[in-house]
Amino acid sequence: MDCVTAPQDRFAIQTHQLNLWYGTFQALKEITVNIKPRLITSLIGPSGCGKTTLLRCFNRINERYENVTTTGEVRILGKNIYDEDVSLGELRKSVGMVFQRPNPLPISIYDNVLFGIRSHTRRGAFARSERDGMVESALRDVELWDETKDGLRRKATHLTLEQQQKLCIARLLPLKPQVILMDEPCSALDAEGVERIEELVDALREKFTIVMVTHNMGQARRISQECIFMLMGKIIEHGDTSQVFLNPREKETDMYVTGRYG
Ligand SMILES: Nc1ncnc2c1ncn2[C@@H]1O[C@H](COP(=O)(O)OP(=O)(O)O)[C@@H](O)[C@H]1O
Ligand SMILES: [Mg+2]
Repeated sequence: MDCVTAPQDRFAIQTHQLNLWYGTFQALKEITVNIKPRLITSLIGPSGCGKTTLLRCFNRINERYENVTTTGEVRILGKNIYDEDVSLGELRKSVGMVFQRPNPLPISIYDNVLFGIRSHTRRGAFARSERDGMVESALRDVELWDETKDGLRRKATHLTLEQQQKLCIARLLPLKPQVILMDEPCSALDAEGVERIEELVDALREKFTIVMVTHNMGQARRISQECIFMLMGKIIEHGDTSQVFLNPREKETDMYVTGRYG
């Protein structure tokens, strides 16, 4: 198996026999997967198959639910994130997350971008010019700078949904994450918004490891280099996106990608 023989840093995320239960319901079954760095991996499968649950294992935010039990391993850059010495704060700094509905805080655009980094550093850690620089750089990276530079003190909740989602990506960047998890980040957007977020995600790929849940198979084909197909809590197939869509190994994958089920 790859994860035994390969050097650990060949993969950004590795799971080994990962199981997860909500109460007595088993939502993830024996998930063993290796996700490569600096490319986009899409996570596809019918509603309820466990995509969101798996994504949320990668920064342990599933544990916010009380009745969750997890067994097995999740390694991020070789480190088992269930080890006792792992700090959840540090983990979530290096594994950022973007949600289905944009969720900026009801504070200014400027303060949204800095919110994460401020919660990880002591007060006054950065001079004003450094803070301004971080805000400009993050907003430029998500192509939001030109539209917002004259109104950085405006409340972020006044932005359009597309701008809000870009801002939610921008606020991860000052933390210099290794991995960015995205759970159907375009589902609240119109067609143009989808296109622009897809372009943005594609541009970020060189710098980060991106794992994106999508129910849109066209989107998975357009933007991901690798694709994981899940069904009822299991991974059925994982490979190059073109292989998964054009030449699937498993019958269930074939049925799903050709629209015959789910
Ligand atoms: N907090 C929760 N408590 C109980 N069951 C849950 C919870 N979250 C998800 N589930 C169940 O786990 C399964 C997988 O859900 P989810 O990961 O959200 O699927 P997907 O993202 O693929 O639609 C579903 O059957 C869902 O009903
Ligand atoms: Mg989901």
